[in-house]
Amino acid sequence: MKAGIIGLRMGRAHLAGYLQNNIEVTGICDTDLTTLELVRKEFNIPLATTDHRELAKINDIDIISVASPDYYHRQHCIDALMEGKHVLCEKPLALNLEDCIEIIKAVRQSGKKFMIGQVCRFAPGFVLTKQIIDSGEIGELFFVESEYAHDYRVAEGVGRWRKDPRRKPFIGGGCHAVDLLRWIAGDPLEGFAYSNHKCLTDWPVDDATIAIYKFENEIMGKVFCSIGCIRPYTMRSVFYGTKGTIISDNTSDHILLCSTKYFKTKTNYNFAKIPVNIAHHNVAAEIKYFIDCLQNNKPIETDEMEGTKTVATCIAAVISSEERRIVNIREELFSIFINL
Ligand SMILES: NC(=O)c1ccc[n+]([C@@H]2O[C@H](COP(=O)([O-])OP(=O)(O)OC[C@H]3O[C@@H](n4cnc5c(N)ncnc54)[C@H](O)[C@@H]3O)[C@@H](O)[C@H]2O)c1
Repeated sequence: MKAGIIGLRMGRAHLAGYLQNNIEVTGICDTDLTTLELVRKEFNIPLATTDHRELAKINDIDIISVASPDYYHRQHCIDALMEGKHVLCEKPLALNLEDCIEIIKAVRQSGKKFMIGQVCRFAPGFVLTKQIIDSGEIGELFFVESEYAHDYRVAEGVGRWRKDPRRKPFIGGGCHAVDLLRWIAGDPLEGFAYSNHKCLTDWPVDDATIAIYKFENEIMGKVFCSIGCIRPYTMRSVFYGTKGTIISDNTSDHILLCSTKYFKTKTNYNFAKIPVNIAHHNVAAEIKYFIDCLQNNKPIETDEMEGTKTVATCIAAVISSEERRIVNIREELFSIFINL
């Protein structure tokens, strides 16, 4: 199999991921000529173009990674699918449900495989967290929380395109934390949110949001998203179960586990430190999984429907904070696309 890539900043991580998985990259696309030429020369790529349609038409490419700004995901994914390519698209799938639905339709029409790159599902700390939860060690979940706290003033490589009213930070960035909670706690039923605008006052969007979700099985959830907070980047997450608690994030070399299995007497509560590798952008593992699904015709867990559910869950928080009301996620949002 051979791959092509659209957008060469996050896309460089995809390029490295394909090479690590012995997949040749035969084409690249970026509208910035300097970036395009730099990457073409460095990796000796046969075709470099500024037009994503030209890339999609190359016969010598089976897979296209879409790592362009969020607003272009719809067009870039659809054009690649319609030219018969499998697609790996960066998160978020899109910034609104209409775009997500058009992508879902294109996947169905093309018969090609599609994966949304929700990379937290490959971060070692979160992978271990899910394994422990699934093993039953912390009992039944009753409260889960995650946050996306990332100061965009200092975040490396954050392009200007994010400063746009169409890109709500809770969808663009918060989707990481929302998807993590959906992966671990299942689909949310309802959501309620507040947001404010105190840090990045020259941005056209609220820069902080807190959302409360009610998941299936009466699990309560909370997601905090800030793109202007003064602190190192983190996705600090806490998972409370009836028999234990886990604290994990994507930037630490360990997770913390307190469980009745680990600490048998109630007076001896403590957290055990379990070491993990730090890999908050584990795109190589994401691509390894994608290639395995393609080569062995396996279903993809994070397919277009899963990506849409995460976007819809984020949109619920945006609607709630704007309209000051609880949003019934299943009835108001999932119902729009679930039976397509
Ligand atoms: N998984 C993650 O943790 C993670 C991290 C960062 C970004 N992302 C996602 O990756 C995508 C790209 O983000 P980024 O940070 O690399 O943005 P960026 O602005 O740093 O880079 C985008 C690149 O795409 C190019 N580009 C812009 N418009 C294009 C077009 N129409 N056709 C082809 N190339 C085009 C730009 O020239 C630039 O080189 C976004 O969807 C973003 O949300 C994901």
